Amino acid sequence: MASLTILPAKAPLVSSIPSSSSHLEFKFPVKLQHSSLSTVKFRLKPLQARFIPATGDEDSGENLDWVSKRRRNLICVSTLPFLFHFRESFEGFSAEAAELDATYMLMKEEVRKVVSKGKAPGVLRLVFHDAGTFETDGNSGGMNGSIVFELDRPENAGLKKSLKILQKAKSEVDSKQSVSWADMIAVAGAEAVSICGGPTIPVILGRRDSVEPDAEGRLPEESLGASALKQCFKRKGLSTQVLVALSGAHTLGSKGFGNPFVFDNSYYKILLEKPWNSSDKMASMIGLPSDHALVEDDECLRWIKKYADDQDIFFEDFKNAYIKLVNSGARWKSL
Ligand code: HEM
Repeated sequence: MASLTILPAKAPLVSSIPSSSSHLEFKFPVKLQHSSLSTVKFRLKPLQARFIPATGDEDSGENLDWVSKRRRNLICVSTLPFLFHFRESFEGFSAEAAELDATYMLMKEEVRKVVSKGKAPGVLRLVFHDAGTFETDGNSGGMNGSIVFELDRPENAGLKKSLKILQKAKSEVDSKQSVSWADMIAVAGAEAVSICGGPTIPVILGRRDSVEPDAEGRLPEESLGASALKQCFKRKGLSTQVLVALSGAHTLGSKGFGNPFVFDNSYYKILLEKPWNSSDKMASMIGLPSDHALVEDDECLRWIKKYADDQDIFFEDFKNAYIKLVNSGARWKSL
């Protein structure tokens, strides 16, 4: 019996090989990252069954030699078709990976035609409002494009125009290769970050779109305190560190954390100054109550200080947190 495990970055969908079948089938996840095959792993289990002729002298060297030759032959016989099949699958898989790469490049190119720095904050917010409906309990919601059905909800006010901007890019891509809204939004958010000077975030493709809206009331309200925010993120499978890192997205937009169109660590630096306590009217309007709440929580404060001190660490953690966010609750297509 042989098993093949493909381990792309945090892929939930791996190869399936029916043990009863002599025909080995590999289902590679579409989300395999850009031709990177370094994580392909073989696991060939040792043969379980063997035939030992009843010579009456089972321990003789001759017999052991026979058994060992027999085992070698059996291994060859059982491995060769597996390897030939793997080669074919591998070639087919490389072609699919190349096609995916081309689609990914095209998506990024079309996004960059429509998303300027001024539009980047709204596009990034769209990502959180699509993916943020995910809850691990029941494994529902998440990055599934359902935001297209949810634009009239009060928490999504203002997001219609961001989606409309992306519609143009999506139509262009769709004319060559059909893509899901979930993939489109995930890629667009990453490009929005990069356009504003933030980290480069690779996005794996292959999310399926939902055909209905997600449950309501799953996005955090801006009035929440730190412990409620932590709980809310925990229900989405996201840690406190991820909460703090993703909140750094508020460095973009009009909440007063530095230049609204520059993605940097000024969110954390300004949080530490607590300008909302100032008597200056403009300064006192900086940030949302949920932003203010983070600095009052010891665990959050540790991350805030870290990110304020070192932008590289923030960029790295934001990148990883973003990848987690856009994979939340995703249902993946197989090739
Ligand atoms: C932690 C809980 C969060 C709450 C309560 C929250 C709430 C809000 C609210 C109310 C606004 C509108 C502010 C305004 O009046 O202009 C906003 C803006 C924004 N949010 Fe969040 N948000 C949260 C987390 C996130 C996350 C995780 C992301 C992305 C990864 C994000 C991205 C953005 C962006 C980019 C804007 C600016 C949008 C613009 O100016 O067009 N937010 N957020």
